[in-house]
Amino acid sequence: MKYSTAILSALALCISEVVAYPSAAFEYAAKAERDASTQESLEAAMRKHQNKGRAVGFDPTAQYVSNQGKYAFKAPNLAGGDQRGPCPGLNAMANHGYLPSNGVATIQQFIDSTLKVFGMGKDLGGFLSIYGALIDGDGTKWSIGGPTPYVPGLLGLLGTPQGISGSHNKYEGDASPTRPDLYQYGNDYKVIVPQFKQLYDMQPNAATANYDLDVLTDFRASRFQQSIDNNPYFFNGPFSGVLVQPAAYTFIFRFMGNKSAEYPEGRLNQEVLKSFFSITGDSNNLKWTEGNEKIPNNWYKRAIGDEYTIPFFLTDVLAAAAQHPEFLSIGGNTGTTNSFTGVDITDLTDGVFNGATLLKGNNLACFVFQNLQNAVPDLIKGLFLNPSGPLGQLTSAISSVTAPFVCPNLAKFDRSQFDKFPGSKGFVA
Ligand code: HEM
Ligand SMILES: *[C@@H]1O[C@H](CO)[C@@H](O)[C@H](O)[C@H]1NC(C)=O
Repeated sequence: MKYSTAILSALALCISEVVAYPSAAFEYAAKAERDASTQESLEAAMRKHQNKGRAVGFDPTAQYVSNQGKYAFKAPNLAGGDQRGPCPGLNAMANHGYLPSNGVATIQQFIDSTLKVFGMGKDLGGFLSIYGALIDGDGTKWSIGGPTPYVPGLLGLLGTPQGISGSHNKYEGDASPTRPDLYQYGNDYKVIVPQFKQLYDMQPNAATANYDLDVLTDFRASRFQQSIDNNPYFFNGPFSGVLVQPAAYTFIFRFMGNKSAEYPEGRLNQEVLKSFFSITGDSNNLKWTEGNEKIPNNWYKRAIGDEYTIPFFLTDVLAAAAQHPEFLSIGGNTGTTNSFTGVDITDLTDGVFNGATLLKGNNLACFVFQNLQNAVPDLIKGLFLNPSGPLGQLTSAISSVTAPFVCPNLAKFDRSQFDKFPGSKGFVA
């Protein structure tokens, strides 16, 4: 698909703003981004991130991730209640003792371990973990799979926390890489082997295979269209679709890729991909074993100082959207396959944003995070007896992301626009 120069220059403007943002609360990311110039093109911003790994240098001792000793692989006891779910990164960490093997951890444990094992920026890890604790947990801890007695429905909660497997349209969404669409298959976390095989076969030569962002963006476009073609209830939500969906793709290369002096931003070959996705066998005989995601032997994470932060992630989100503008269309099928209808952003936001300005300045980031700010109070009203404490945490996390953007004020968000999409039932974010 070709993209217009208008979109590209709008994106370039957006990127320059995004990259320049200094975060107050998450100083970790701020330090990394403060040097950014304000006149960068999208390509320049991306190049800067890409080159950071090389600039920082490869340190095998610091980047080696142990899968030995206390970090040796231990398969989960799924029958005994250990939780595993739609996220292969979190599953692998729990299988190697970087997270508790029961699949339940606190916000701090998630932030520390995603940084330690994958080099996830503390801003990104913090935001994802706090959101998880509110939406899928008890405000302090949550399950990487489904509900569990380790996160009981007690102490000021109005129901039983459902874990990330039970967070459809709030966190987990449609058109994931290897996991099924919930309303099409009845679950959202069991690998569909043909989906994995489609990705795997996009780099058929084992000697040269590298599942990089180009490959993953093509794969995502194909998966997006498959959901339109096959899932009458496909829904591409403002948060679950516009922001979580790209993460599910970019994380594959950004985090799973094996870093080295030669390839500081990583190379992701067939064996490493299969290991992290708990797949064995060759292309004609691929087999998925639930919950056996493994950190490969002799594997190296992102460089220290080259963490994958929110601004870095946003450049990847925009680069993918520049190639495939459909990724940003919020909407869904209307109850039959191939009926995708986008909502008008103007109607959704009472005129504050529109399709054209969404790609200008920081509008996309403003739109997505302000939508969350607007959605979450209602969302957690149904979950916590006294939501003000948990809400404060998320509000401050969101503010520290958006404060430097100078966002237009989004006072209203008309969620009734989603009524025509049967796949958006329940509360969507
Ligand atoms: C606290 C941090 C994290 C949270 C809260 C989180 C949460 C999630 C959720 C809710 C999904 C389902 C999204 C969907 O519907 O497609 C998901 C998928 C995914 N996550 Fe994570 N995740 C985290 C960290 C990581 C890390 C460190 C990796 C590193 C590899 C990772 C890799 C992935 C991938 C590749 C998928 C897509 C799986 C597929 O459908 O094939 N995540 N994650
Ligand atoms: C990662 O790259 C290094 C350097 O090229 C190599 O020695 C190591 O075997 C690779 N690890 C994996 C899991 O492919």
